[in-house]
Amino acid sequence: RKYHPRARFSEIAAPVSTGGDSLRSTMKLMFSQAGNVVFPGESSLDFEIAECSNRALGDYQCNSAMKIFAELKDRGDTRFKNPRSLAEAIIQAIPAENSFFEKLAVAGPGFINITFSREFLAQEALRVFHCSADGTFETTRKFRKLTAKRAVVDYSSPNIAKEMQEMHVGHLRSTIIGETICRALEFVGVEVIRLNHVGDWGTQFGMLLAHLEDISESSDFEVKNLQELYKQSKIRFDSDEDFKKRARAAVVHLQAGDKHLKEKWTDICEVSRQDFEEIYRLLDVHILERGESYYNYLIPDVLSELIEKEIAVQSDGALCIFADGSDSPLICRKSNGSFNYASTDLAALWQRISDLCADWIIYVTDVGQKKHFDAIFDAASRAGWLKRENGNVSLDHVGFGLVMGVDGKRFRTRSGDTVPLKSLLREAQSRCLDSLRGRESTLSDDELEDASRIMGVAAVKYADLHNNRLTNYTFSYERMLDLKGNTAVYLLYTHARISSLLERAHTQDLEPLSINDLVLKDEFERVLALTIMKFPDVVESVVQDLLPSRLCDYTYSLCVTFNEFYGSCKVLGGEQERSRTFLCQATAISLRQCFHILGIEPLYRL
Ligand code: ARG
Repeated sequence: RKYHPRARFSEIAAPVSTGGDSLRSTMKLMFSQAGNVVFPGESSLDFEIAECSNRALGDYQCNSAMKIFAELKDRGDTRFKNPRSLAEAIIQAIPAENSFFEKLAVAGPGFINITFSREFLAQEALRVFHCSADGTFETTRKFRKLTAKRAVVDYSSPNIAKEMQEMHVGHLRSTIIGETICRALEFVGVEVIRLNHVGDWGTQFGMLLAHLEDISESSDFEVKNLQELYKQSKIRFDSDEDFKKRARAAVVHLQAGDKHLKEKWTDICEVSRQDFEEIYRLLDVHILERGESYYNYLIPDVLSELIEKEIAVQSDGALCIFADGSDSPLICRKSNGSFNYASTDLAALWQRISDLCADWIIYVTDVGQKKHFDAIFDAASRAGWLKRENGNVSLDHVGFGLVMGVDGKRFRTRSGDTVPLKSLLREAQSRCLDSLRGRESTLSDDELEDASRIMGVAAVKYADLHNNRLTNYTFSYERMLDLKGNTAVYLLYTHARISSLLERAHTQDLEPLSINDLVLKDEFERVLALTIMKFPDVVESVVQDLLPSRLCDYTYSLCVTFNEFYGSCKVLGGEQERSRTFLCQATAISLRQCFHILGIEPLYRL
């Protein structure tokens, strides 16, 4: 029932695809070739291609004539008297008999406006149908810009046995943003290793272990009393010098491998783990837990290497790394000999480069940790870890802002506690159920439950993803569940609308046979086809700047464009039913590909 008859099996079984070549790079290539004709032997000309700022003038535009003209002029080259004539020459160099363009025209100071031909639009829009049996696009084209083959994405990474050890909204952001980045990378053909760098090793364990020792708590505690125990031990830590010493000593012993402490530590971690698992299940996130403790064995060697290379130095008893121009050092071994967050991150980075052979490592945390990662990246670079024979290792910190409540303050419950994630997701789901029940629907009770489960999770994810991640975002159930807004609910309804339309269509063919099966006479059809064909460009830009919000903007615009088309073009029973059915189907497939990357499960009926 869940799968629409027109949803291709292969697409659902393995929606991951390498995509078609991006439109921009195709255009770039064509213009570069024309550039070679006009300026033989000139290899450094760069042609910048963008979406056309005025739809009435064209689909895309090339903005480079002005820049190239200025460069030539600087070199004393006077072949052209202005950027316009240079732009004209470029256009002349593109063979008139090509299947790409209907029109190329110079405008303003030297912009080249590009209008695609109907054939090209049809061919590119229909590319979504060309999936091979394993669901990948059958295409020889690849995303060119990426050199990375294997990426490590370090995300989610909640802390165990801390005040907010129930994963909080900050970790939710990291989980949602990180997962979408993983999926986008996989979509363009990068192998991704998902790592959950849980905080399972810090000072908090010293406190907790010392406290547990005193009260000899049995090991079968729950998350709730783990939090309570944390609070109690924190109070003692802050007020009792003797306890503080014992707590610190316990960390050192734990890190040195004390058997008894290790057993207790294992129990504590297990309790948290079960709690986390449930949330990952709700979010459909599958991530390898490799906490801070995993890297413990590597730290001494990694630090020795940094000392040997004179990157880490002793200062006031601690081991420090001073970055150029910074006077606050990165402390990578405390004066009492214990390791900290930075020691672990240095070892983890080394391991990911040397053992996992990753060539791109991405960290998803709140913006507050930027300085920490800058310092780690700087140390790695100076240690020479990033140099590879075939291209260097790239490091990225993907930061995000705070989650705010509708009251403009940090998102908290009324009593000021952090909001447990489970209840937050459940609340979104139950509100969806209420709203679905309030609308006319042919769904059974079970189906409604199912739909609201999907919709609730999708709403929370999309509300987070659609903001520029660097800004704070306001968590509001009303906003994220708005049927008419830029929300997952709107997207899911649009997808369900297309699906029900396709179910009623008379055209039985599952896919078009040739580009003539897509007519694109009407302007609304043309715009919809153009939007569909922009998809690879969008994915490319998401990956390039690690900004999931771009994909949300695109998905929303695809839905808006579809609804405009549907509002003015008759699909069923019209003269062009066959062609328009294909266009609807191409839209649905594209939407599902967006959904896949955004971690949204599609709904076929509502
Ligand atoms: N556990 C940390 C926190 O909650 C995030 C860890 C991020 N990853 C890392 N390799 N440092 O803030």
